[in-house]
Order: sequence, then structure tokens, then C-alpha cells
Amino acid sequence: MSKRVKAVVLAAGKGTRMKSEKPKVLHEIFNKPLVSWVLSACENAGSLENIVVVGHKGEEVSGFVSKNHPKSVCVEQKEQLGTGHAVSMAKESLKDFDGCVLVLCGDTPLITKESLEKFINFHNENSSDITVMTAILGNPSGYGRIVRDSRNNVSEIVEQKDCTEAQKAISEINAGMYCINWQRAQGFFSNLKNNNAQNEYYLTDIIKWGNTEGLKVSGYVLENPDESLGINSRAQLADAFRIMNLRHLDKLMEDGVTIVSPENTQISPETVIGADTIIFPNTFINGKNTIGKNCKIGPFAHLRGNCTIEDFVKIGNFVELKKTYVKSHTNISHLSYVGDSKVGSNVNIGAGTITANYNSITKEKKETIINDGASIGSNTVLVAPVELGKKAFIAAGSVITKDVGANALGLTRSPQKEIKNYVK
Ligand code: UD1
Ligand code: CA
Repeated sequence: MSKRVKAVVLAAGKGTRMKSEKPKVLHEIFNKPLVSWVLSACENAGSLENIVVVGHKGEEVSGFVSKNHPKSVCVEQKEQLGTGHAVSMAKESLKDFDGCVLVLCGDTPLITKESLEKFINFHNENSSDITVMTAILGNPSGYGRIVRDSRNNVSEIVEQKDCTEAQKAISEINAGMYCINWQRAQGFFSNLKNNNAQNEYYLTDIIKWGNTEGLKVSGYVLENPDESLGINSRAQLADAFRIMNLRHLDKLMEDGVTIVSPENTQISPETVIGADTIIFPNTFINGKNTIGKNCKIGPFAHLRGNCTIEDFVKIGNFVELKKTYVKSHTNISHLSYVGDSKVGSNVNIGAGTITANYNSITKEKKETIINDGASIGSNTVLVAPVELGKKAFIAAGSVITKDVGANALGLTRSPQKEIKNYVK
């Protein structure tokens, strides 16, 4: 990237159409808020700093951002007077900035790092002052429409509510993302007007303004229009989830992973999987995970994040894993919960094994360590913190509360009794 880039991410709106107590941009896809997907894309595309404009329930949003995105700062927009007004809140932070300001909305989680990079390169190579990202949609309803002149230059953006019937038929829409040469175009933000159907200070007016000022205004058409999807409703949230999931499954399959039934499999884009691993149907994988090669996962497996699984591991049906490291050639084949654990290689965890990792009185989570070659009988409870030595053997039905040494048998069940002729 030749020029310096900073991003402004708009996240102050209430999201009325979500009908939610929660600010819209904190609604999640794969356990990660919408705004977080956008900020990750900016970070990965090389933005030096992200300025997040917060407003409605701003403390909740800025709390999340400061904890999870160290390259981001939040600025407040007290009243939500429109997208142009929102960007103007970042003026102070950008005062002396000489470079490209990438403006994005916090509700477009499908935008990728690759597209942002292409967008910024296009803007720089064209020596543009203002570039708007556009997309061609089969159903453009709800979006601002891109109006081009006879020479195909973008002359203005018209919001749906301000469109004439003819403009409503335009299928090229405003994706809500802009590259702005800050030194040349920041004047727009001292000049905002709100004479439109919603009486808002529209950012979209920057296009017409730029043309009148004699600046170079361009449009960049997204290759994949899905990436422009803005989330305004629960139905669009579900659409975005589906698209994000299928996009990642396609990539995994390209990389040599078998996904038996993509329609019935959900894998977070932050999960890396090695070649020749097979994912059986109805598997749900959330958060950040790494899965090795030649593993078998599912059917009906649930990984909740922070899991690392080495090669040749089997995670079978109705197995839930959380914050756990599993070394190679280990089987956790049926009906188990393993959380906050380190599991060695060549371990066999029998059906119905539970790591009791959580104390609901103290609210503490404790660790379970299972060393190489250990074998755990069915229906065992491992009460953490607890460690099983190498090749330790746990008898089925045991409740293990103390460490078990290497090669030892751990057994807590009461001896079986037989009462002769009891039934008679
Ligand atoms: C906006 C664009 C529209 C574009 C669409 C793309 C304008 C006027 N319209 O419409 O052309 O097709 O995005 O998704 O820009 N926000 C603030 N402060 C405000 C108002 C909004 O921070 O005062 C934030 C919202 O939280 C949201 C983003 O800006 O993240 C976009 O606002 P939204 O109300 O969703 O705009 P759209 O109607 O979708
Ligand atoms: Ca929107």
C-alpha cells in the first residue's frame, strides 16, 4: 500500500429495525460482533488507526472496542444526525492526517481485507480525491442509488427515500464505503446540509459536493456484491451468517478439507483446518480454532472456540470442546464435554466423560491435564483442577477429584454386590 490509511467506522446508530436492546453493531456472527468483523478487515488491510464513531449505547460499544481492538479509538456522536455528521465527529482525530481516510459502516460484516486492499489501490492508482464503493444488486431496494452521467462518471448518490421512480430502477448501489483524500476533501464536513427526506446530514452528499468543487470523484464496483450487505434487520443478520459460513466452507474445501454436507455445517471463518480432515454433518464450530490434518470431526460436534487440535484426532458425535488443546492420535468419540483442558497424544476418552471445569459458587474455571496415552473409562467425571499421568487408566464411572500418577489405575466406584435369588 503506497499511501497512509486510517479508517473511520460508523457505529453510532440505534439499529431501530433490529428491535433490540443491544446496539446493532454488537449483534454477532460466529460470536463476533458486526463491528468487530469490520475492524478486523481494516486492521488486516493495513489501516494505521481506526476511529469508531459511537453514540447509541456508546459505552457498550466502546467497551467492546477498547478491549478487543487496540488499534482503534472511539469518538462520540451525541445525537445521531446522519452519516455525514457521524464522520465529522472524527475531524479532531484526523486534524493533521495526510493520507486516505477509509470510511466504513459498522454494520457491513462481509467486507473482506482483499476487497478493501483493491479498493484503496484503485483509489490511489486513479489519483482520486473521493472514491465510493458500489455494487450491482438484483434487488437494490433500501440502498442509496449511484447516479452516473453520460460519461459514466459518478455524479451523485440518491437515497431510496429521495429517489425518483426512474432512479429507483438503478441497480448500482452505494455500499457505504469510501476512500477520501483527507487533505483535499475534508472541507465537505464543515459544510454539511440536511435538506432531504430524512432531514439528516448525509455522507452520500460528498459525491455531488466533490464534483462541484472540481475534485476527482470515482466509483469502484465490488466484484462480489455480497460483501456490501448491510445489516439492518434480523433477516439480514441471518443472510450474512449464511453467506459468511458458505464462503468459508468453500475456501476450506478448496484447501482440501472434506465437508460432507455444507448446508448442515457451520464453521467460523477464524477456524483453520488442515487437508484431509473430514467434517461430518451438523457440526458447529465457533470462534478461533486450529484443527490439524486427517482429523474426523462430527457428526454433531460442537467446538466453542480457543481449541487447537493436532493431526489424526477424532472428535465424535455430541462432543463439546472449549478452550482445549488436543494432541495427535487422540479419540474423544462420543457424548463428552472437555473444557479448559490439555489432552496429550494417543489418549482415549470414553463415552460420556465430563471435565467438571466450573465452580458455580466461586465462578472459577479450572484446568484438566490428561497426559499422553491415558485411557479414560466411560461416564467419568474429572473434577478440575486435576492431572492424569502418562498412560493413567481410569475405570468407568469414576469421579476423579485427585491427580492420578503415570501408569496407575484410578477408580472410585463402589464394588458391585450380588444378592442371590433377590428377585424370587
Ligand atoms: C447508508 C447510506 C446508503 C448506503 C447504505 C449501505 C447514507 C445517507 N446512506 O444507508 O446510501 O446504500 O448505508 O449500507 O449514508 N450511523 C452513525 N450515525 C448516524 C447515522 C448512522 O454512526 O447519525 C451509522 C450506523 O450505526 C450504521 C451506518 O452509520 O453503522 C449506516 O447507517 P444506516 O442508518 O444503517 O444507513 P443506511 O440507511 O443503511
Ligand atoms: Ca445500513
